[in-house]
Amino acid sequence: MNICVAGVGYVGLVTGACFSGFGLRVTCVGRDASKISMLNQGKVPIYEPGLAELIEKNANEGRLSFTTDIKESVRNALVIFIAVGTPSDEHGGADLKYVEEVAKTIGQTMNGYKVVVTKSTVPVGTGKMIEAIIKENQTKPCAFDVASNPEFLREGSSIEDFMRPNRIVIGAESEQAVAILKDLYNPLYLIETPFVITDVATAEMIKYASNAFLATKISFINEMSAICDQVGADVHQVAKGMGLDGRIGRKFLHAGPGFGGSCFPKDTRAISQIARQYGYEFKIVDAVIKVNEERPEMMIERIVSALGGDLKGTLIGILGLTFKPNTDDMRESPTIPIIKGLQERGAKIQAYDPAGMEQARQYLRDIDYKEDLYTVAQGADALVLATEWNQFRNIDWERVKKVLRRPVVVDLRNIYDPQRMRAFGFHYTSVGRP
Ligand code: UDX
Repeated sequence: MNICVAGVGYVGLVTGACFSGFGLRVTCVGRDASKISMLNQGKVPIYEPGLAELIEKNANEGRLSFTTDIKESVRNALVIFIAVGTPSDEHGGADLKYVEEVAKTIGQTMNGYKVVVTKSTVPVGTGKMIEAIIKENQTKPCAFDVASNPEFLREGSSIEDFMRPNRIVIGAESEQAVAILKDLYNPLYLIETPFVITDVATAEMIKYASNAFLATKISFINEMSAICDQVGADVHQVAKGMGLDGRIGRKFLHAGPGFGGSCFPKDTRAISQIARQYGYEFKIVDAVIKVNEERPEMMIERIVSALGGDLKGTLIGILGLTFKPNTDDMRESPTIPIIKGLQERGAKIQAYDPAGMEQARQYLRDIDYKEDLYTVAQGADALVLATEWNQFRNIDWERVKKVLRRPVVVDLRNIYDPQRMRAFGFHYTSVGRP
């Protein structure tokens, strides 16, 4: 079966590579000719463990190719996945201009029955909109179905998430479309993956509901950590004690500097905006967004207080810049407002991130980038752990202590043991732990 994936961003590339890994013939389409030519030479423009190898293997075996020619790929495909970007518009809603463009081209080009599937996170009702655009633009009448098949991939582990998902959600109104999409995911039947088959609007809502709920867990535990700080309780243990209740679950209860990335901030704003459009105020999600927006300032205050209340003339070493480990993605990373805030208060910043420094240059100014975690500590008044990369978990603290100017460590991800850090002689602060 031939598949076309429109969009060579994160979702498009992972979807295309993984479907070709299932043995399907996939063409990924992008507009940027230089990016497509890079991909055809085997160069992958995003950092994602295992993706380059998967692309190389399937491209070499002739199942995966990249092109700018959307018309040709639409004509050849039975299934077209729309995986283009849906950036936030000025009201926090999803801007659908790229989705609309692709739908228009599909309508103008289609030459037989197609299933058009949205993979991008799109507002409820987008499926209907795509259907209308395709119909309007058809030059000759052709049958087609529009379906929704949201992705739940996490950056840094997206291939594993695609190959071993918790569930597959398919929203489609025709049996033929459901049968074709089930067929695409056939290898996942063998590992007994649950399938949720529903209508398009419900599938679209499942994605927002899932992301908003996970973001709620994070803002909840972050607020909990602020209270723990006041009452002298340990948020880490609180999360463990809560999470062992099967109804709550242990995941997504790690207190930290707030959620970032390309999904949670954008999707929480979008669902709040969608609710507002329908005359409903989504109070919980609005609070989740507010808590998250206030988080960087709280982290800044923590660092200021660890340094005795004044940052003028200080040098701060930052470990980790990306919004989470195992990615080079800086989008909405909480380190951006945190570092800007520290600079505004007079601190100089030196930083190290295993993958994110190149992207960080687009978001941050006046940073002295270092080549490893020890040089980032060199001469600094404080070392701040901002992103919990694995390589930061086993640090030679004696060595760090020798090179720091003052023995101050601020751990925004709670990955070090407070007692051990104090035994090394550090003035150690974490988030919501006594
Ligand atoms: C998320 C969803 O998990 C995924 O299903 C969806 O498809 C896309 O959005 P991603 O953005 O890659 O994936 O990262 P995720 O691992 O979910 O983390 C998002 C943010 O939340 C990160 O900034 C992370 O540091 C933060 N986080 C996560 C916490 O602060 N605490 C936690 O307990 C979990």
